[in-house]
Amino acid sequence: MTTTEIESTIEIPVADASTAVRASEAQFIHDFLLQLDNPKTLEIGFGYGRSACYIMAATNLPHTVMDPFQDNYNRQALANVEKCGFGNRLTLIEDFSHNVLPKMVGEGKKFDFIFIDGDHKFDGIFVDFYYVDMLLNEGGFALFHDTWMRSTQLVMSFINKNRKDYRKMMIGQNNMGLYQKTGNDERNGMHFREFYTTRRIIKHAFIQWIWGPKKGLIKSLVLAIKEKIRPTKSR
Ligand SMILES: C[S@@+](CC[C@H](N)C(=O)[O-])C[C@H]1O[C@@H](n2cnc3c(N)ncnc32)[C@H](O)[C@@H]1O
Repeated sequence: MTTTEIESTIEIPVADASTAVRASEAQFIHDFLLQLDNPKTLEIGFGYGRSACYIMAATNLPHTVMDPFQDNYNRQALANVEKCGFGNRLTLIEDFSHNVLPKMVGEGKKFDFIFIDGDHKFDGIFVDFYYVDMLLNEGGFALFHDTWMRSTQLVMSFINKNRKDYRKMMIGQNNMGLYQKTGNDERNGMHFREFYTTRRIIKHAFIQWIWGPKKGLIKSLVLAIKEKIRPTKSR
């Protein structure tokens, strides 16, 4: 199935369109995976299944995804994957990543590409990365979504400063961060490099304010301008 066909097949509620990755981001993931040799893929956070569909269109191997809250999304991700004809290759584990990932590590599972788009709090992303690192083959890739968020920025800053066994890839995407695992973690027990960063402080505060519950004249004006520049539509 082509990505154009995926886009005309899947359904994502307009009111909740920002939950899913953008179609352009999904296209990047798809095209990137096509360059790899049939990678083994894993995904944290199913949402509406857009990323899962594009990932599965780029490989012909099984794809595993974990998410405890599919019922909150009317099980639409599953419906989308089924409609695209990928249902027989998908394993959905309906549980939190903090339960699923350590179990996979214990079972000795390994992957070539892991998409991290589940819990977006700092500690959630950090714990996800901790286990993702153990699940990646050398040469494999971890992709973070929502890099506009301070939480994601801080996790990536930790990797940049402390994990010399990871290489940040230049991908030309402003809301995703891609890392390749290039070797072994050779830090000793005393190793620590400060990783606090001020990146995206203003952007994060602005977006929190825009989407926050408090209404006012200035916010209405900003939202009206935003709607003029970029009208809300399913992504
Ligand atoms: C932003 S959405 C993912 C969107 C998806 N990539 C797409 O393109 O449709 C985040 C998802 O992560 C799930 N989630 C939240 N906390 C999680 C956790 N601790 N473990 C696994 N999934 C989690 C949510 O239920 C939600 O479905």
